[in-house]
Amino acid sequence: MEIIKTIAALQNRLQNQNKGKSIGLVPTMGALHNGHLSLIKTAVAQTGIVVCSIFVNPTQFTDASDLEKYPRPIAADIEKLELTGCQILFMPDVPEMYPQKEYWHLDIGEIEHRLEGKFRPGHYQGVMQIVYKLFMAVKPDLAFFGQKDFQQVRVIEKMVELKNLPVKIVLCPIIRETDGLAMSSRNIHLSPQERKHALILSWALQQLKNSYVKEASEELRKEAIELIMTEPQVQLEYLEIVNAAELDNDLSDENKGIIALVAAKVGQTRLIDNMILR
Ligand code: PAJ
Repeated sequence: MEIIKTIAALQNRLQNQNKGKSIGLVPTMGALHNGHLSLIKTAVAQTGIVVCSIFVNPTQFTDASDLEKYPRPIAADIEKLELTGCQILFMPDVPEMYPQKEYWHLDIGEIEHRLEGKFRPGHYQGVMQIVYKLFMAVKPDLAFFGQKDFQQVRVIEKMVELKNLPVKIVLCPIIRETDGLAMSSRNIHLSPQERKHALILSWALQQLKNSYVKEASEELRKEAIELIMTEPQVQLEYLEIVNAAELDNDLSDENKGIIALVAAKVGQTRLIDNMILR
C-alpha cells in the first residue's frame, strides 16, 4: 500500500499510473475498526483501485474537546489497511486540505438541520467541505459510506446531486459488535460499565424494528424512548422514526423506506445508531 500525503502526488499517481481502472474512495477519520474495513473490502470488490483517506476533519467538529481527543492510532490503522487490499492511503495534513480559511456554504435544504443537524449545527457543512475536496482530489467513480451515519449519506447524495458530480455513492451496512453495539471509533472512550449501558440503544432499535407497524409508530417510538430511559447513565438526545428519503416525519410513502435513528450521550461519549424498519 502506498501512503501519499499531498493532493499533487495523489493526482499524479492516479492519473499517470492508473491504466484506466475504476477508482473507489473510502473517506475516514481513522481509528479504523471492522465497520471501516468492511467499506474498504466492498470497495476492493467493486473497483480497480481503492483509495482510503484518513483525515480528522476539523471543520466538522462542533466541540473543540471532541476534536482534540479524537483517537489517532495511525500505526495500527496502517497495519489493518495493509490486510484489506487497499492500494493507496491518502493521509494529508490540515494545511494541505485547508490552505486558507473556507467560507463556502452549500444550501441543501432542511435535511441538513434535522436530527444530527439540530444537535451539531454546522457539522454537515464541514462534512460537505471535506468530502467535496476529497472528491476533487481523487475523482472517484464510486465512493463508499456507511449506513451508521445515515444522515451523512443523504447529505452527501444531495451535494452530489446539486453539484452534478460524476460519482456514485455506495451505501454499506452497519457493522456491529456481537452484542449489538454499532462499531464506532468513539467506543474506545467508553468505560466497561458505560459500554454495557450503551447496549440499550441497539436493543431499543431492535425492539422497534421487531414490533413496527406504521399506524402505531408514535406509540412504539415512545416505548423505545421509555426503554432507553430505564438506563439513567444514557442521556437521550433524539429517537425519531422518519422516512429514509428526506428524513422527515411523513411516513405516508413506505416505498421511500422507514428508518429509526437515535443519538445519546453515555458519560462523555456521544453515540449514534439507526435501523431500517421497512
Ligand atoms: P468516520 O466516522 O471515520 O467514518 C468513515 C466511514 O465509516 C463513514 O462512511 C461511516 O459511516 C463508516 N462507518 C463507521 N462506523 C461504521 C460501522 N459500524 N459500520 C459500517 N460503516 C461504518 O464519517 C466520517 O468518518 C467523516 O464524517 C468523513 C465522511 C470521513 C468526512 O470527514
